[in-house]
Amino acid sequence: MTLRDKPFSQACENNKAPIFALLAPFLQDKTHLLEIGSGTGQHAVWFAPQLPHLIWQTSDLVENHPGILHWIGDYPAANLLPPVVLNVADQEQWPDSAIDAVYTANTAHIMAWHEVQAMFEKVSSNLPANGIFCLYGPMKYAGEHTSDSNHFFDLSLRERAPHRGIREFHEINQLALEGNLILLDDHAMPANNRLLIWQKST
Ligand SMILES: C[S@@+](CC[C@H](N)C(=O)[O-])C[C@H]1O[C@@H](n2cnc3c(N)ncnc32)[C@H](O)[C@@H]1O
Repeated sequence: MTLRDKPFSQACENNKAPIFALLAPFLQDKTHLLEIGSGTGQHAVWFAPQLPHLIWQTSDLVENHPGILHWIGDYPAANLLPPVVLNVADQEQWPDSAIDAVYTANTAHIMAWHEVQAMFEKVSSNLPANGIFCLYGPMKYAGEHTSDSNHFFDLSLRERAPHRGIREFHEINQLALEGNLILLDDHAMPANNRLLIWQKST
């Protein structure tokens, strides 16, 4: 990969500080965080050095690994690990380490619904009691988008790939409840996104 091929997301640059401000307090007593769908790796390289008490494990489908490795190469941190292959639909794939926090951003509207279900099953069955699951992205409430721009974003997602689309909050939270994940927080974020935080009860 050449320098030109380094992936870049302006959205990550815009949302990393607001996400981190809300996320960090929930991670103070956590030791091993798994990021699902690290994408470019920009969140990982910015969050990990600010959380030196925990290990930040990046992950994604294998095609995104070169970009994540490129970002980690440019911004290494002692507690930031290179990506593991993790497709949530693959039952076998989960890191060996004792993950007690999971973070994922902008994945639920990209994954097919069965993959979103698989992600919740994986997260809830692997997290210990008091483990944290944090999901960032756009969300619908009672069938309503939170903005016109989200409505048009949803239409464009579905037009390009019918399995994609902005998810309904209560359906997402139902998946969480089925896995004993209790909603701690649902924050409105800039650019009409949400930050949802659940804690594993048992
Ligand atoms: C829109 S990108 C978001 C990337 C990054 N988290 C961010 O906020 O910019 C969606 C990510 O979900 C990942 N993804 C899609 N399907 C997945 C699956 N089945 N399992 C794991 N990751 C998946 C993609 O590879 C991609 O990195």
